[in-house]
This record gives sequence, structure tokens and C-alpha cells, in this order.
Amino acid sequence: MINVSDLKKDFPIFEREINGKRLTYLDSGATSQKPSAVINEMSNVYTNMNANVHRGTYVLSSETTTKYEDVRNKLKDFINAYSSDEIIFTKGCTEGFNFLANSICKELSAGDEIILSEIEHHANIIPWQMVAEKYNLKINYINITKSFDLDLDHFESLLNSKTKVVSIVGESNMSGMLPDIQKMNSLVKEKTDAIYIVDGAQLVPHRKIDVQELGIDFICVSGHKMLGPTGIGVVWGRKELLEKLDPVYGGGDMIEEVFYDSATWAPVPHKFEAGTPPYVEAIGLGAAVDYLSSLNMKNVEKHSDDLRIYAKNKLENIKGLNVVHTNSKVAGCTFAMSVNGVHATDISLMLDTFGVAVRAGHHCVQPFHRKLNLDATFRATGYIYNDEEDFDILSDAIEESIKILT
Ligand code: ALA
Repeated sequence: MINVSDLKKDFPIFEREINGKRLTYLDSGATSQKPSAVINEMSNVYTNMNANVHRGTYVLSSETTTKYEDVRNKLKDFINAYSSDEIIFTKGCTEGFNFLANSICKELSAGDEIILSEIEHHANIIPWQMVAEKYNLKINYINITKSFDLDLDHFESLLNSKTKVVSIVGESNMSGMLPDIQKMNSLVKEKTDAIYIVDGAQLVPHRKIDVQELGIDFICVSGHKMLGPTGIGVVWGRKELLEKLDPVYGGGDMIEEVFYDSATWAPVPHKFEAGTPPYVEAIGLGAAVDYLSSLNMKNVEKHSDDLRIYAKNKLENIKGLNVVHTNSKVAGCTFAMSVNGVHATDISLMLDTFGVAVRAGHHCVQPFHRKLNLDATFRATGYIYNDEEDFDILSDAIEESIKILT
């Protein structure tokens, strides 16, 4: 079990007051706060062992290289990858999708199809749109139902022999919906030879993920949403698939041999990591993985599920508040909300006066907002350092704000 008041002591930011009030941070969907373990580990590298990785034979470089490479093992265990070579460091999920879209789609033929869904984040739409235009591919979107879930019958009807990529969010950053990854992946494998990719940005921080059990091909992970620093993420992929893919970025460290007119690539994972990698950020992510593992991801998951049920009940009972949240039994602790006649930004500015931090806007899911006839929502997302009191404060502050603004 997670004891939030004890755990909060690990996060120095919660010593701050905002507008004279305790900080009620409900924007972990945008980025999570960082425990001292992560901050101190990054400071330790810069203070005591900083040197570029894979490039020096001296003590500092080999210490930093060992620490950096060890993070691959931590991540391998964290998501149960088959091998640590399958862990590719990226800047984040966005870079991960750009890499996968460019590398996978250059092997496809004109007319081949990609399946996304209507609730995808822009990071899992735009890279595919860019390559679809370049290689003349078609993108199909899975419809959503009235309860903000994916229409799986529609999904099945989209699968055909031209389907080559299916790339779907693992946990919606707007409605908290958790698609049935295992079922969708099985349908894909049954009916097509397509690759199944999961957008793990919101999923991996909150739930125990086992890529072998899910049977998927790739997952993109964001470090800063799971207690790690910004500028670091991961693409996990099956080694046999990674071996077939070409790198998208060229430069130092990703080569085996270079000639004036050609080059050969280093083995996986290094052929995908051109240039000096964000090794301090990767080591920071390693500390975040250690922290989450010490809590046990099953406890993290349970905490999210319990908090979501409490928050859902609280928020759905506020008069005048529209809540975009799935009706599914299991979902993420994420609530996009709107108040008729009041802009989401005005509500979020008002909430800030109560010390409550939420995100306002389209949350990089503009097509989903458009589908619901909304131009913006304000969104609260809970994480391990949030408890029922945070959602009590949020609810009271929303009620006060509605009174003032309507
Ligand atoms: N993708 C992040 C969010 O949903 C930034 O807020």
C-alpha cells in the first residue's frame, strides 16, 4: 500500500506553497514531480563522475558508461522485455513515434494502411500523417463510442491485408480509458501481418506492464511522466523487428565502420542512438525506475484505481460540471472537464488561486476535443503523491470557481 503523506516527503516540491496554499498538484499527465532520489542521482553524476559515454577508456567515462548501460537492464526488468538490447533511448515518446513512423513506413508500399484511433495524442498522429503523405499510405481511425471507449467492432472492420501498422494509446490522456491491448493485439495478429505499437506515455507510469504477456511489438515510453527527468524516453521493440529497421538519425556512436562514400551500422540498440545520448537523464530515469519498483507497480496501480473511483464520484456530482471520463470499470485517474459558458483557461486560473495545478487546453488531443464539440477542457490527473484530500480540495475549488464565473 502507498502511504501518501510519507511518500510526499520524498518530493521536495511539496514543501512549496502556491498563493499561500498547500500545493495540490494534479497535472502529472503533463509531467510528474521528481523524488529526491532522481534529483540527487543526476546531481551525483554531474558532481562525481561526469564524462561522455562509450568514448573514453578512463575511470570517469567507464563509470558513467556502466551506469548508463545498466539503466537498460532496469528498464528491461521493469517492462519484462526479452533483452536489454531492445531498450532504445530517445528524447521522449514524440521522438519515439517519429523514429518508428519513419523507419517502419519507408519499407511500406503505396496504398498500405495504418490504424490509429480517434483519441490519439498528436505525438501518435502527426508523425504518421507526415510519412503517410510521403509514401502515399492511408490512415484509418477507430471510432469512439458515446462512453469515450474504442469501438472494437469498428476496429475489426478496419483490419485487412493492407493494414501494416496499428498504433494505439495505452491509456487515454483525456478520458483515462485503457484499451484492451491484449485483445486488440491478438485481433491484429490473427487477421494481418501488421505491427502493433502502444503509446505508453500515460500507461507505463501507472500500471505494471509486461510486454511479453501483452504480445505487442513496440511501446513508446516517456521518462518525465514516470518521475524521471525531461529529455529522456524509451522505445522498446522486439529485437528481431529492431534488427530489420534502419536508423533514422545518423552520426557518432551509431556506426560500425565509416568510409567516405558509405557506412555500416552498429548493432541494436546503438544503431538507433546517434550522437552523445542524454546519459545523465537516462541515469535519472534509472533512479525513477528504482523508486517505482521499490513501491511495487502493483501498489501503484491499486493506488491509481482507488483514487480514480473516489475522484470520479466526487467530480461527477458537481453541479454544472461536465466530466469526460470513461465508464469502464478500470481506467486511469484522468478527468478532462468543462463548464458550459466558461473557458477552461479561466477555470484553471481560478483553481490556481486555491493552490490547485491542472492543465487547460486541448492536451494535444485536439481531434478528440473536436469530436466532442469542445475547444478546450481543464484536466486533473492523479499520481502516487495524490490522495483523496487533493480531490476534495479540487472539488471545493471547482464549486467555488463555478459560483464566481457563472
Ligand atoms: N502529453 C502530455 C499531456 O497529456 C503533455 O499533458
